[in-house]
Amino acid sequence: MKRDTLTRRQFLERTSASLAAASVVPRPKTSVGNPNALALHGGTPVRSKPFPDWPQTSEVDEQNILQSLRSHRWCTFDGKFIPQFEKAWAEKVGSQGAVLTPCGTHALHMALEILGIGPGDEVIVSPFTYIATIDAILLCYALPVFADSDLKTFQIDPDDIEHRITEHTRAILPVHILGAPAHMDKILAIARRHNLPVIEDACQGHNAEWRGKKLGTLGTIGCFSFQESKNLPGGEAGAIISADPDLIARGRIFRDFGRDPRRGSYTVRGTKYRISDFAAAVLMAQLMRFDDLCAKREKHAAYLREELKGITGLVPQEHYPESTRQNYYCFGFRYDKEHFSGAPRSKVIEALNAEGIPVTAIYPPLNKEPFIEANLNSRGFRAVFSQERLERYRAANHCPHNDELCGSSLYLPQTILIGERSDVDNVLEAFQKVQRNAEMLS
Ligand SMILES: Cc1ncc(COP(=O)(O)O)c(C=O)c1O
Repeated sequence: MKRDTLTRRQFLERTSASLAAASVVPRPKTSVGNPNALALHGGTPVRSKPFPDWPQTSEVDEQNILQSLRSHRWCTFDGKFIPQFEKAWAEKVGSQGAVLTPCGTHALHMALEILGIGPGDEVIVSPFTYIATIDAILLCYALPVFADSDLKTFQIDPDDIEHRITEHTRAILPVHILGAPAHMDKILAIARRHNLPVIEDACQGHNAEWRGKKLGTLGTIGCFSFQESKNLPGGEAGAIISADPDLIARGRIFRDFGRDPRRGSYTVRGTKYRISDFAAAVLMAQLMRFDDLCAKREKHAAYLREELKGITGLVPQEHYPESTRQNYYCFGFRYDKEHFSGAPRSKVIEALNAEGIPVTAIYPPLNKEPFIEANLNSRGFRAVFSQERLERYRAANHCPHNDELCGSSLYLPQTILIGERSDVDNVLEAFQKVQRNAEMLS
């Protein structure tokens, strides 16, 4: 996971920091080298070798990059891999078309812009997401209206959406979080009742499906990220997809400063969201290993879910029965300290990291992060929104279930799922070991 994710280097640094810290913690002499003692307290870690590296590459990635480089056609106008990947991705998900953008954040921003969302509008969105989703809305000088999260599925609570719709609402923006589908039947039904477009944030949801349809194809526009950490990585890249050819055309025009190629002039609002051919060259190569890796993730995640039934206090993210395929961008679960002798989540993370398991907390409650107030208090927002409207917004900005979710959730990166089954066994072994020793962490 991006930014909130530990990179391999950060993980090793943290792990060694934990080990260093452990050296000053008083502990029984028998801890050192003892496989039953926590690694945090000097015992032997469950795992000392790294999990598989990410992203993965082969000669095809290298050949494609070289081919693009040697073509001397590197930009959006003439790069050969850009139209190739746009066609391939649209076909893969079953959409009319795709428009590549420099990143998923820009895909979301472009989607909002080409749907005409702008200053004074409101967009209903999940607070349990990466900041990019919210940032895209704020870039339009629109208000992100947060619907609460569902504690079990980590998704936007579909039953908390409708009462938040006002005369200013212009779109619903569900996030398919950790690569699992949000409840699209309920969301689409609400959108139809209120004549609102749905922008799917499928930035983590490549290949996942709702009732057999790929995420991103259910709403008005789907947005993807191909950033390095994603299950289909291209360094930094993103895309919108849509079944509506007019929206695809508008996307192409928007990403080129509003220039309509049919007229040859700058006709509408736009900006430069063009992309370099190199990212598309890598993405074409990455597509070749994509299906195999997706299958591996699903297989190992199913095993992990099953085995977790035997460890109380670690409850995996639930999936709606209508979600026919998961992406497992991350494996998310909730931690219940009651089953870990009351040990705080931060201590359990530390202990698991010391055991060689890259577990991390997921998201902070974004609706409460200071950037929201910074935006509301900015000159731009104060020019657009009356003081009274902002006060009403603040008064309604509460998501108690999301607060609980942010305080109790954890995730494992997808790299623990793409190697051998023994990798997952190591994770389970570390969970059990930490639980057995939880009293030492309380
Ligand atoms: C849910 C979600 N939305 C949007 C984005 C933004 O994508 P990008 O990093 O490509 O801008 C991300 C990236 O991590 C994401 O996880």
